[in-house]
Amino acid sequence: MRKPFIGGNWKMNTDSKSAVELAKGVAEKCASYLSKVDVAVCPPFVYLPAAKAALGNSAVGLGAQDVYFEAKGAFTGEVSCGMLKDVGCKYVIIGHSERRHVIKETDALINKKLTAAIDAGLLPIFCVGELLEERNAGKTEAVVTEQIQKGMAGISAEKAKTVVIAYEPVWAIGTGVNASPEQAQDVHFMIRQLIAKMYNKDLADNMVIQYGGSAKPDNAAVLMAKPDIDGLLVGGASLKADDFAAMIKAAAEAK
Ligand code: 13P
Repeated sequence: MRKPFIGGNWKMNTDSKSAVELAKGVAEKCASYLSKVDVAVCPPFVYLPAAKAALGNSAVGLGAQDVYFEAKGAFTGEVSCGMLKDVGCKYVIIGHSERRHVIKETDALINKKLTAAIDAGLLPIFCVGELLEERNAGKTEAVVTEQIQKGMAGISAEKAKTVVIAYEPVWAIGTGVNASPEQAQDVHFMIRQLIAKMYNKDLADNMVIQYGGSAKPDNAAVLMAKPDIDGLLVGGASLKADDFAAMIKAAAEAK
């Protein structure tokens, strides 16, 4: 069975003091749910080592919000998979909509990052999702399918086993308007069928697919109640340990 997985994407928030407090708070408040739910926090790069220390012996995983695909060298401003592992990261978010749409990352670049992360032994959280105009034009399935096919091109079934997909409709991110549980379930089901077609049913049945986009304590339970929603990738609500812990509790109780 798939273990629920709740990730906190802190984005470009916190500072050295609040990052440590938040990591500590998450570790404390979610300790009793960790046997039922996998949990990760993803601070900005510069706070990763401090957050790791603050997590201590907790089973809460540390994740980065991005990575570069090259191992080392003249790539000013970039951070490698090896560096992330060196500071204790287990997870890395790849292809987040803010990187696709603000930083203009392409599917080809995302594919290189995903491949490098898997090869390095990091667990990637691979984000996909449509824009509002794409949804309104009836293109959600086509857009998400293309992002997954291009993003996972050349990645074998064996390697794909470690991938978590996060479905994050762009119109729901940071807007307060979450996809309805039914809208999210429809896309999650479609993604699972696509993975079965691209790889095999066993891999699809075991793949963890998170929903992201204005997930909050008050909608976590109804989202998590859907059969193909295995977890949440949380932005704003992950910045308050109490809210994030409430969502982890909802996930533990829903499955
Ligand atoms: P919000 O939860 O703030 O909408 O952000 C979602 C997200 O982008 C998580 O990666």
